[in-house]
Amino acid sequence: MRALLAAVLAFLAPAAAAQQVVGDAIPASLTGQPGDAGRGRAIVANRSVGLCLLCHSGPIAEERFQGDLAPTLAGAGSRWSEGQLRLRIVDGARLNADTIMPPYYRATGLQQVARNFEGKTILSAAQVEDVVAYLATLKD
Ligand code: HEC
Repeated sequence: MRALLAAVLAFLAPAAAAQQVVGDAIPASLTGQPGDAGRGRAIVANRSVGLCLLCHSGPIAEERFQGDLAPTLAGAGSRWSEGQLRLRIVDGARLNADTIMPPYYRATGLQQVARNFEGKTILSAAQVEDVVAYLATLKD
């Protein structure tokens, strides 16, 4: 019985590596490396990868249609530390259970997930770090 349980739990283990939350932040890089701000900007601007501009606006002039359901990303790098930005991207529901912002790096507890996304995160750990690196540059 115990072996069966262990097997089931192993099967359910999330794809996302455990992250250490401290207060309202995840201080450490998910990959152990700093992200790339240029790649992060591309992820944020991309309508099919990040989808950020569905809800947010930001200083991305070439994207004409931007969202107004969420605070602008402009200035995010002066409002928040990298660790605070990381937790907001990984799983904003940890801070506001009712948020409409998707958890970009949580593989468990999602509802109505398409089959090919089951057990997967929306962004990879490296992509989260790229987005965090980009947001940290948005100082005004
Ligand atoms: C479906 C809408 C939606 C999408 C898509 C979305 N967000 Fe959000 N986001 C929100 C909302 C709403 C908030 C406000 C916080 C809350 O809900 O409690 C927020 C908060 C934030 C914050 C904190 C903002 C602040 O200054 O207070 C950051 C940073 C952020 N989002 C970045 C992103 C990035 C980067 C992406 C894409 C990878 C993204 N969001 C995708 C809705 C969204």
